[in-house]
Amino acid sequence: MAEHSAYPVGLRLAGRRVVVIGGGQVAQRRLPALVAAGADVLLVSPSATPSVDAMAETGEIRWERRRYRDGDLDGAWYALIATRDRVANDAASAEAEARRVWCVRADDAEAATAWTPATGRVEGVTVAVLSGNDPRRSAAVRDAVVEGLRDGSLTRNRPRTPGVALVGGGPGDPDLITVRGRRLLAEADVVIADRLGPRDLLDELPPHVEVIDAAKIPYGRYMAQEAINNALIEHAKAGKAVVRLKGGDPYVFGRGMEELQALAEAGIPCTVVPGISSSISVPGAVGIPVTHRGVAHEFTVVSGHVGPDDPRSLVDWASLAKLTGTLVVLMGVDKIGLIAEALVRHGRPADTPVAVVQEGTTATQRRVDATLATVGETVRAAEIRPPAVIVIGEVVNVAAPAGPAA
Ligand SMILES: C[S@@+](CC[C@H](N)C(=O)[O-])C[C@H]1O[C@@H](n2cnc3c(N)ncnc32)[C@H](O)[C@@H]1O
Repeated sequence: MAEHSAYPVGLRLAGRRVVVIGGGQVAQRRLPALVAAGADVLLVSPSATPSVDAMAETGEIRWERRRYRDGDLDGAWYALIATRDRVANDAASAEAEARRVWCVRADDAEAATAWTPATGRVEGVTVAVLSGNDPRRSAAVRDAVVEGLRDGSLTRNRPRTPGVALVGGGPGDPDLITVRGRRLLAEADVVIADRLGPRDLLDELPPHVEVIDAAKIPYGRYMAQEAINNALIEHAKAGKAVVRLKGGDPYVFGRGMEELQALAEAGIPCTVVPGISSSISVPGAVGIPVTHRGVAHEFTVVSGHVGPDDPRSLVDWASLAKLTGTLVVLMGVDKIGLIAEALVRHGRPADTPVAVVQEGTTATQRRVDATLATVGETVRAAEIRPPAVIVIGEVVNVAAPAGPAA
């Protein structure tokens, strides 16, 4: 029997009766996919795991709390037999055979008439792998294919739909980009990249990919936003798949909406992929949680690129000083002395702890600790340079300065 390979097929189970015998771990793992396929699932089992119980509670499946009995497979198209009772399993699979119902057996693959493949889904593609009676091998092959689809390495030469993807690349560690962002990057013809974000990923791009540096070095040389918008539009109009790779999240001080609007005006299709913002992940990288039960019930993310007394500032520092939670300042290295002074002047205690984290999540990550009274001088003396995230508030002391990833 085992000499013949299994015949792969996709069952369309919507509205069709599927009978599951046994409500343990196997059922718990298989039921979500059956429910997602729209099957009319009947579970027969005296007991069930809490997750299976919850599926019955919400009406996703129907549960008869009893043991299997002959006739349970009446009207079924497909059966999953997964009890710990060998006699019941044999009886149920004999009934399946007699009724010509395809039947999976968790306890005995040889006695089954169907096998469950190792499956995965990526962007509408279902991967299903069978490798005889070797589920570990099936899972390993499935993982490799799913990973290849997710990161784009399996589909790199696929013709791409022209347009622009604004991809949030995360704080810098190349592992902290989203799966979708990484796949779009692997499929790009042109990448316009910021200085911040996962620059290491650019090395992995094939040689034909054009990489354009859109570095906006603070207070230094920069490529005007308009020039970036024009470059995005030009390359997209030339039929290229363009990725605009940005640090953190495109919509957190990232000018993502400006780029989206410019593209919309030019009639260019654009997709936005969120990213992990440095405002949360960089404190986290040195063991600082931006909220902590009993310590901080809010966190506020502020741009410090202009000082508190600068007429261009849109930040109400006097109000922020009255908050007791966490204040996270981005782009604030240059003005942190003035910012700290303003916060103290408006009522935040001078001994409030402050942590400054430079180049978080990268190999050159550094952290210095201070208080509002000392941070201006500390940042100067330690020669902290952008990019840095400044965390102000009691959460700084929740973890020891030498936290897990410090
Ligand atoms: C123009 S903002 C962009 C923020 C980005 N969109 C985000 O969500 O993280 C740039 C600022 O983000 C912060 N930043 C970004 N990446 C950082 C990193 N790896 N380490 C420390 N600060 C970082 C710095 O405050 C930097 O000046």
